Amino acid sequence: MGGAGGGVAADLRQRLERRDAAVGVVGLGYVGLPLAVAFAKAGMRVIGVDADVGRVERIGRGQSPIEDVPNDELAPLVRTGRLTVAGGMRALGPADAIVICVPTPLGKSKEPDISHIVEAADEVAKILRPGQLVVLESTTYPGTTEEVLLPRFTASGLVVGEQFFLAFSPERIDPGNRTYGLSNIPKIVGGATPACRELACALYGQIVERVVPVSSPQAAEMIKLFENIFRSVNIALANELAIMCRRLGLSVWEIIDAAATKPFGFMPFYPGPGIGGHCLPSDPYYLSWRARMMGYEARFIAFADEINGGMPAYTVQMAADALNDRGKPLKGSRVLALGVAYKPGVGDVRDSPAVEIIDSLLLRGALVDYADPHVPSLTVGSRRLTGVDWATADLASYDVVAVLTAHREFDPARLCREARLVLDTRNLTGPLGAQPHVIRL
Ligand SMILES: NC(=O)c1ccc[n+]([C@@H]2O[C@H](COP(=O)([O-])OP(=O)(O)OC[C@H]3O[C@@H](n4cnc5c(N)ncnc54)[C@H](O)[C@@H]3O)[C@@H](O)[C@H]2O)c1
Repeated sequence: MGGAGGGVAADLRQRLERRDAAVGVVGLGYVGLPLAVAFAKAGMRVIGVDADVGRVERIGRGQSPIEDVPNDELAPLVRTGRLTVAGGMRALGPADAIVICVPTPLGKSKEPDISHIVEAADEVAKILRPGQLVVLESTTYPGTTEEVLLPRFTASGLVVGEQFFLAFSPERIDPGNRTYGLSNIPKIVGGATPACRELACALYGQIVERVVPVSSPQAAEMIKLFENIFRSVNIALANELAIMCRRLGLSVWEIIDAAATKPFGFMPFYPGPGIGGHCLPSDPYYLSWRARMMGYEARFIAFADEINGGMPAYTVQMAADALNDRGKPLKGSRVLALGVAYKPGVGDVRDSPAVEIIDSLLLRGALVDYADPHVPSLTVGSRRLTGVDWATADLASYDVVAVLTAHREFDPARLCREARLVLDTRNLTGPLGAQPHVIRL
């Protein structure tokens, strides 16, 4: 360990590398819980903290609220005391490293709401002591770590890079992804000083195969936003292509898949009924807000959001058109929404386009059911809907079945065989070829 940080840093580094360290994780959600489990499985003592009392109690009983963390993985770690959970930050006193994974939603006017980060930082500041490393993982605008966290932590006189250490390392996990998980997704790390960066690299080096150090926390914050904006913009392009293909009588899926045979310079993104989840609809606004503060109006971000945000209404219109072609109005028609999670393999309905689509169908007088093996019940406006069981659903009783999420549980052959009319926004039925009663986005 070079110069800055000297003995304190060298000590901490040794403990991290020997895995003889305690790691505190603040926020035990989709990001924090898998991380806490990974550190505990690597042999660290982990202290998890969450503001949600119900969640703390549940995890404390060894029950996981996250699909990617099975109970049989979590329970032994809790039982043996390798992973303890608490409601208050005081529990983090013994932690050598503290990782903050709290939500970063948008406010009403799409401005960043970093109140959870501020709250967590204020609490950490109260217990911060020499020899601790703090890492922020929440997705946020460039500058947050050094402008919001750092002054709170140095207020007591502690010196960054010498007495305590601070870094930003964006979370890149993709819940439900069976190929890439925490350990094989390279981890970006930007430290407030070189010693901070080295220590954060040492921390993550215990649980991931590859750590990618970058020049600053601000660069690390920007990298995460760029990755998500890249996806949002490319999905918007695919959505716009789908709209144009429909007018031209072309299959957007054929166009994209054939274009993807080009071995360089092309990467396929696919259209759909809209984007959802905690990240894509919100994160880009963290950058456009920041850019606006600097006198620059980001254009791609706003345009992509406009196109992606219009897809739920476009999907409802496609359903109405398909019914109309068969002499039926949307009003009074029975519609089955197949899949309401924002992506396959998860039960996360945050900002899911399915909610807007169902809401709009209900408003127009359709009689809507939904089926999603990952989502037992769903709130749409003021209504609470209970899902029907896909396995036993009478598909022929619906005027149209709209595929909104391509969960692997949905068998396209059965869907095409039993349903009278299918609106497929995910190309679930693509492998079965063109069918007269199947309309694809
Ligand atoms: N979900 C994803 O796929 C994903 C992927 C990459 C990055 N991220 C980013 O990671 C961050 C966390 O996202 P998430 O999906 O895990 O959110 P989440 O809502 O699933 O979990 C966050 C947890 O933090 C807790 N919390 C909130 N304020 C707190 C506080 N002051 N102290 C202690 N606990 C607090 C909440 O109770 C909740 O359990 C966000 O910035 C998100 O953008 C999410």
